[in-house]
Amino acid sequence: MHRSEINVDLGALRRNVRTLLRALDGSQLWAVVKADGYGHGAVDAAGAALGAGATALCVATIPEGLALRSEYRVERIVVLGPAGSNREIAQAREAGLELVIAHDEIPEGVRVHLKLDTGMARYGLAELPAPPAEVVGLMTHLATADADAEFARTQLERFTAATDEFRHLTRHAANSAATLRLPESHFDAVRCGGAIYGLSPFNTDPGEDGLEPVLSWQSYLAQVKQLSAGGSTGYGRRFVADEPTWIGIVPVGYGDGFSRDLTGTEVRVAGELRPIASYPWGRRSCYSATACCPRRTRGWRARSTTTSSAESRVDRCGRAVR
Ligand SMILES: Cc1ncc(COP(=O)(O)O)c(C=O)c1O
Repeated sequence: MHRSEINVDLGALRRNVRTLLRALDGSQLWAVVKADGYGHGAVDAAGAALGAGATALCVATIPEGLALRSEYRVERIVVLGPAGSNREIAQAREAGLELVIAHDEIPEGVRVHLKLDTGMARYGLAELPAPPAEVVGLMTHLATADADAEFARTQLERFTAATDEFRHLTRHAANSAATLRLPESHFDAVRCGGAIYGLSPFNTDPGEDGLEPVLSWQSYLAQVKQLSAGGSTGYGRRFVADEPTWIGIVPVGYGDGFSRDLTGTEVRVAGELRPIASYPWGRRSCYSATACCPRRTRGWRARSTTTSSAESRVDRCGRAVR
């Protein structure tokens, strides 16, 4: 076994897409594969999502869209972030990408989605102008679909009121949380990111919504030892055992992306979820998270696995992706 190994299960991604499609009543599912597919690999994630029934891809930047355009014939690749330089817009036009626009200047000869700000107060138009010919879609983005359904519904009401006379255009508003909890947000298409990777938008067990984590991270126990009551492990003695406790040394750290941001994460040791007792601490300590073991796990090859929970959204270089 490798010391530190990330596995991306594209079968799980496909199953997640199908699960989300079952929550829809005829609306399309667009797969959000920006930021290198939330760190899972955009090309592979996009291919799996399209294969499972997604009908469009969403990215953050024009270069991300161009990279996917050379891989896939899918008709619709939507660039969610602000359009780039004139040169990039020309490339987008050439490649048939669709741009999200939130200001009066609408580039010519490129398909456009107008983004209405209904409450997120980020990139978005305060008011919807009469859509010119380039406009193929109308959209908004919800601030609280995961936590405050009432505010999300207020946003949806504003969006519906502003767009109802333009029903001939593709209307879309939902992210993963709204797709799962707010059927009134589905309109013509939903834009799902986290959920297709098996991340719960609600910070709960993804299985509650029928989702499977796509990413797993495996290492092994490099050493197993027992602390006596009062014994401690790691820098600063931050973990002190109040009873005799077996601990296992997992040989991963900052260099592998296991940073303090993962505080609260559990690892699976010999099949059981176990807390992390000590984290790699301080920049010098590149290695060694320490997990409490269920017992004296035999041998030094016991596997530990972290799954892609909301707390462990790291890409392959260990950068947080959101
Ligand atoms: C405009 C827009 N729509 C949809 C999404 C997908 O959100 P989620 O990952 O919560 O599904 C994002 C991601 O940030 C986004 O920026």
